[in-house]
Amino acid sequence: MNEIHCYERRHKLLAQMEEGVAIIASAPIQTRSNDTEYPYRQNSDFYYLCGFNEDNSILVLVKTLDSTKMLLFVEAYNAEHTLWNGARLGVDGARERFRVDEVHDVAEYGGMIKEILREHVNLYIDLFETSEILSQAKAAAQSLRETRGVKRHIRSIHDVTHLIRKMRLIKSSKEVEAIKKAIALTMEAHHKAMRECNSGMREYQLQAIMNYVFINGGASAEAYSAIVAGGNNANTLHYIDNSDELRNGELVLIDAACEWKLYASDITRTFPINGKFTDPQREVYNAVLDVQLRVIEAIKPGVKRDWLQTYSEELLCDALIRLGVLSGDRKTLMEAKEHKKYAPHGIGHWMGLDVHDPCPYVDEWGESLAFEAGMVMTIEPGLYFRADDESVPEAFRGIGIRIEDDILVTSEGYENLSSMIAKSVEEIEVMCKR
Ligand code: GLY
Ligand code: MN
Ligand code: MN
Repeated sequence: MNEIHCYERRHKLLAQMEEGVAIIASAPIQTRSNDTEYPYRQNSDFYYLCGFNEDNSILVLVKTLDSTKMLLFVEAYNAEHTLWNGARLGVDGARERFRVDEVHDVAEYGGMIKEILREHVNLYIDLFETSEILSQAKAAAQSLRETRGVKRHIRSIHDVTHLIRKMRLIKSSKEVEAIKKAIALTMEAHHKAMRECNSGMREYQLQAIMNYVFINGGASAEAYSAIVAGGNNANTLHYIDNSDELRNGELVLIDAACEWKLYASDITRTFPINGKFTDPQREVYNAVLDVQLRVIEAIKPGVKRDWLQTYSEELLCDALIRLGVLSGDRKTLMEAKEHKKYAPHGIGHWMGLDVHDPCPYVDEWGESLAFEAGMVMTIEPGLYFRADDESVPEAFRGIGIRIEDDILVTSEGYENLSSMIAKSVEEIEVMCKR
């Protein structure tokens, strides 16, 4: 991520703050077991403001009535760390790279935070973070309150993540470029899985085929734990076991995608394991696809996200009536939430630096946000008919289908960023040709 963009974002955050101090820390390293660690993943809010991928770093923004200051704390050169884990940017490297006013060794943070907070009233932190960094800040604020001669004390603690995440809602063209890059690799992976899938394989073998494409293509990681769900496993929404056999005549639902420079993609395709849809599979598939296409078509600036959710539920309910799964009139069925049994999840979510981008869905008054150009949302309707559900026509039992694309809101309407991934029955059957 370009430092110029990050610098502008830091200024934008400062502009939203009242006088005070914001502290945004990097993500800690996470232990996997004993002394082994998960691959490092930076805190998305910190990355958004700094584009810096090292742990043990802290960004501090200070605002007074007539000035602003940016401080960055990074880990200094350390021979032991360099030997085992490689070189870090270091204090001098960070001074060269970042347009901040001061760079310090992170070891100095504990000693400096009290002076930084002196005479400030507002503190902006991640309210739900429980790190040593924030404990030190709170302890310093407490100590200042008891220090003679200090006139103003921290009186209000604000959620800094809310301010950052409002900014994260609208993606810049650079961010969209990174998402597109992630989607391009994800497309390749889904197409390879369609081409190479065969009955008798295990679900994890399809996952491995896709992971090869991700890693070989330079992706930073899977954007989330892949769901490769053959047959009835597709009806377990967060199925990540991926160890079952893929059986002839069944479908496989793959919800898998990669992250490019920390920007996510999130794609689901459902296709026949032997390459050819059966009649009931095609019927349900086309019902879900029809809903997905109509919902996408409705996206444009000004449309409220809540409205889109209701609209998608109406369409799914109509589809369930047409398929003979539900009977009665839509309004009554929806009031009783009958459709939720077969379509239990939401129509989509914001996507960006996090696959489920934690940007707000409502404004300060709780009103649903309206779409604006630059927002990115997934559209992912699904219908799920469990194998043991006798309320469903027998031919549909065991079928679970979701179709998911990543949609950019544009000033004219929308751009489906993943439209090139095979999706119609015809496209999928061609891609799956054995
Ligand atoms: N892959 C997670 C989701 O679709 O929300
Ligand atoms: Mn999704
Ligand atoms: Mn998904």
